[in-house]
Amino acid sequence: MRIITLAGSPRFPSRSSALLEYAREKLSALDVEVCHWHLHNFAPEDLLYARFDSPALKTLVAQLKEADGLIVATPVYKAAYSGALKTLLDLLPERALEGKVVLPLATGGTVAHLLAVDYALKPVLSALKAQEILHGVFADDSQVIDYQHKPHFTPNLQLRLDNALETFWQALHRRDVQVPTFHQPQGIAHA
Ligand SMILES: Cc1cc2nc3c(=O)[nH]c(=O)nc-3n(C[C@H](O)[C@H](O)[C@H](O)COP(=O)(O)O)c2cc1C
Repeated sequence: MRIITLAGSPRFPSRSSALLEYAREKLSALDVEVCHWHLHNFAPEDLLYARFDSPALKTLVAQLKEADGLIVATPVYKAAYSGALKTLLDLLPERALEGKVVLPLATGGTVAHLLAVDYALKPVLSALKAQEILHGVFADDSQVIDYQHKPHFTPNLQLRLDNALETFWQALHRRDVQVPTFHQPQGIAHA
């Protein structure tokens, strides 16, 4: 089982990245192989000038092809996800998330923008043909107690993250179950 984690904040360390770090630790302990990506892996001009031949982009696309799932984290910027993350998502091939389970995570300064993931990020994940987009986790800044050192969250946020990660893990395993191939029923005569 292999997944990609993608940190969509232009900043590091960052609150939304701390959620991802927590997810990485949890899933690695369950024998899930995690490849971690953040925006600093890409040359800024490759993202800004939409360079589809960016070497880092090619590596990410190749790893995505082999992955079972993706966890993407973003800060809320101006009531949506970060523009820097968009510059990367725009460069992914149209079916980059085909067959993948995706868990979105977001942090924001106000719960007023709690739905930013639903109305802004999820449609993009869907356009990239994600197979299953799970209910995301939104944390407001007061729930992230420490993100500079070891991630530390309020009990409520930690519980919501644990539940979301368990759902993600189960979805990855559901996806792994072999689906019987579809056959035309015997004896149907074609006119
Ligand atoms: C440029 C900018 C715009 C922001 N816009 C919003 C916003 O519209 N709504 C909101 O809830 N928080 C907003 N915030 C606060 C961030 O979403 C919040 O602090 C978040 O946890 C930062 O995540 P990060 O540390 O992973 O970058 C904004 C912050 C910045 C720097």
